[in-house]
Amino acid sequence: MPQRLIVLISGRGSNLAALVQAAREQGWPAEVVSVISNRPQAAGLEWARAHGLPTQVVDHQAYADRSEFDDALLQACEAHQPDVVVLAGFMRVLGDTFVRCYEGRLINIHPSLLPSFTGLHTHRRALQAGVKVAGATVHYVTPTLDHGPVIAQGVVPVQQDDTEEALAERVLQAEHQLLPLAVGWHVRGELQLEAGVVRHRHGAPQALFFH
Ligand code: GAR
Repeated sequence: MPQRLIVLISGRGSNLAALVQAAREQGWPAEVVSVISNRPQAAGLEWARAHGLPTQVVDHQAYADRSEFDDALLQACEAHQPDVVVLAGFMRVLGDTFVRCYEGRLINIHPSLLPSFTGLHTHRRALQAGVKVAGATVHYVTPTLDHGPVIAQGVVPVQQDDTEEALAERVLQAEHQLLPLAVGWHVRGELQLEAGVVRHRHGAPQALFFH
């Protein structure tokens, strides 16, 4: 039985596209059963529809508070009985109930080398801090925002005259390789989690370096 994947998005959906393309090209034992967005206008929804994927909207603005939104999102997800839930540019903080329901099978991509630069405006803050490398992290989600066992990290150089936009674009290109790699490992059962540390069973490198 293929694993049932839900992808949660909020915007453009370029990571969703990278994921779906890899899954199809590599013949993953997985199918995307729903793409769910908290924003009705998310461009990623259009992409999903155009590529034959079922979509849904759970608009956070339609709910009185975060916990009501969380309940609605959880219900929408549970209706599909997912094996894996991937946050691919999903810009809402998820509550404990949601996170605990999918513990160990809830995967997020964040555009920084965690644990540095959790939260928003990661590239601006990286430039302000004067770091010389930046990147992205794919990790299992735990109730603490942008924390949780790291599956893979992609490292890109920060260039001397970088702008926030240029750095974001360089990191995004890395994300498009990193997310499919990490989720592919998960759905093929190639990862093991022990004492909060994720290891690839066959020793595949979990750090990618980009220039
Ligand atoms: C990506 O850079 C992703 O890492 C980031 O949003 C962007 C979504 O782009 N996610 C977060 O910041 C989550 N904290 P996309 O919609 O084109 O995939």
